[in-house]
Amino acid sequence: MNQLSRPQPIPFIDVAAQRQRLGKSLDEAVARVLGHCQFLGGTEVTQLEQALAAFSGARHVVTCSSGTDALLMVLMAKGIGRGDAVLCPSFTFCATGEAVAITGATPVFVDVDAATFNMDTDSLKRGIATAKKHGLKPKAVIPVDLFGQSADHDAIGTIAAEEGLFVLDDAAQGFGASYKGRRLGTFGLATATSFFPAKPLGCFGDGGAIFTDDAELAHTLRSVRSHGQGADKYDNVRLGLTARLDTMQAAVLIEKLKIFEDEILARSKVAERYASGLGNVVTVPRLAKGCTSVWAQYTIRLPAVTDREGFAAALKAQGIPTAIYYPKSMHQQTAYRGFPVADGGLPVSERLSADVISLPMHAYLDASTQDRIIAAVRGAVST
Ligand SMILES: Cc1ncc(COP(=O)(O)O)c(C=O)c1O
Repeated sequence: MNQLSRPQPIPFIDVAAQRQRLGKSLDEAVARVLGHCQFLGGTEVTQLEQALAAFSGARHVVTCSSGTDALLMVLMAKGIGRGDAVLCPSFTFCATGEAVAITGATPVFVDVDAATFNMDTDSLKRGIATAKKHGLKPKAVIPVDLFGQSADHDAIGTIAAEEGLFVLDDAAQGFGASYKGRRLGTFGLATATSFFPAKPLGCFGDGGAIFTDDAELAHTLRSVRSHGQGADKYDNVRLGLTARLDTMQAAVLIEKLKIFEDEILARSKVAERYASGLGNVVTVPRLAKGCTSVWAQYTIRLPAVTDREGFAAALKAQGIPTAIYYPKSMHQQTAYRGFPVADGGLPVSERLSADVISLPMHAYLDASTQDRIIAAVRGAVST
């Protein structure tokens, strides 16, 4: 194939299309920060926290430097450490368990549901028992709203309440989705999200936020975010971090939040189109009753007979990128192999790691480009 006949490459996530749509409003937002020069703690940070609170329904929002720091800050604020167990799914991005391990506590990995990819509540119960068997004190559970779909927050909340655990929702991929009519950000003790550029609501660098209705926790989080400072700036009352969101990112996010609802709708339409075009050849993602998704990823499962590498190569040859989230579940990764897994093992996580693949997904994917992807997937599955 010569250079001219090569198919037009399709972006996996089209950040540039969104940048073009927002055009001048983003330029002006950044220019305002360059004008007032309050690069940390500028008024845009407070404005963004208020806008995120209004959007999610959470009483308090504390912005921070990343989704990983958002998780870590809550664990630090709650005094989680050595001897404590925190239950988390294994089929997730590594930051979920990493934040736990950084505190000195032990992540105990539990399995996920094959249809929704989210935490399996039977495995969660087994994981709590496993933690106790290891002499650990179960303190918290971190459900993940994977690929954008909310986890089963009622079921997880019930188990957590019975066991005296607090819930820290990892909505790094799911912010903007809802569960039984309520937006994420309002479940459990606190919710963490990420504004990494590729996320449904992303900034132009690293960023994150924590949502909570607990005023005392929000107060502590503001202290943790800035070296554990107390009422007197130079009397630090606890260990903390340098974990602020910078003003420039806040200014960018304020503009992006204004079109977020519209983008969520557009993403849902793309997902529906994929489901109707591919539902009879691969396993397409399913929304559980009462759950919505912001479709951070559109992740399909390939039939057992389809070789995943060959499938990805066939799409790549047609200019279509794919990604595998996640080729190894956390308990299969070098740094995390030593941590306990729920009794009965994590067979679903392991199967998913072997057969999932994600397709291009963003709010600006037009119908004809999507038709190209659907045709390529159908062709690659049947060969
Ligand atoms: C489920 C999950 N948790 C946490 C994070 C961490 O977010 P960040 O990259 O902003 O630290 C991510 C980011 O990809 C994620 O997908």
